Amino acid sequence: KRVVIFASGGGSNFENLVRNSNDIGMEVIGLIVDKPNAFAINRAEQLKIPYSIFDRKEYKSRQDFESDILEKLSEMDVDYLILAGFMRILSTEFVDKYDRKIINIHPSLLPAFRGATAIYDAYMYGVKVSGVTIHYVDSGVDTGEIIAQKSLYIEDGESLDSFEEKIHQLEYDLYPATLKKLFKGDVRE
Ligand code: GRF
Repeated sequence: KRVVIFASGGGSNFENLVRNSNDIGMEVIGLIVDKPNAFAINRAEQLKIPYSIFDRKEYKSRQDFESDILEKLSEMDVDYLILAGFMRILSTEFVDKYDRKIINIHPSLLPAFRGATAIYDAYMYGVKVSGVTIHYVDSGVDTGEIIAQKSLYIEDGESLDSFEEKIHQLEYDLYPATLKKLFKGDVRE
């Protein structure tokens, strides 16, 4: 499968997916970022992955922003859009153009702790079990159909840093494993 990865920040999941792309059975043909200073760009340079920056602040509206991205994608012959720390909600119009072809990773067991600060929110709530979710993207905030989940325990007295590190390690396992299954057809599309 030919995939484009979308990121807004550090890009550690992006890098992990690129490094595992052969095993997953995909080719990462590009990175799209919405922030000109995203560290993911440095990783793309290192990994020799072509990238495009669509700085949301330079656009009057989400519609203009999305139409530039859609135009870029239309030149790329892409099968799947893989969101990895992309911090924008896509419109219904955008999502409908790639029905069940947009996938996201979220660092909680959805539907608990939707939104941008899920790891912190779960920790502060005091849950004893949390985890990672891979889901199809719809135009809601972390509401699309769930593809895979994996859980972990938060030990008594565990620090936020330690919990966060465990979540990220789980992400680095679950995202490649789930995409591999999906692309092989082991998961209902
Ligand atoms: C990950 O925790 C992901 O689940 C969330 O944003 C974070 C991105 O981290 N949506 P990185 O940019 O991949 O390092």
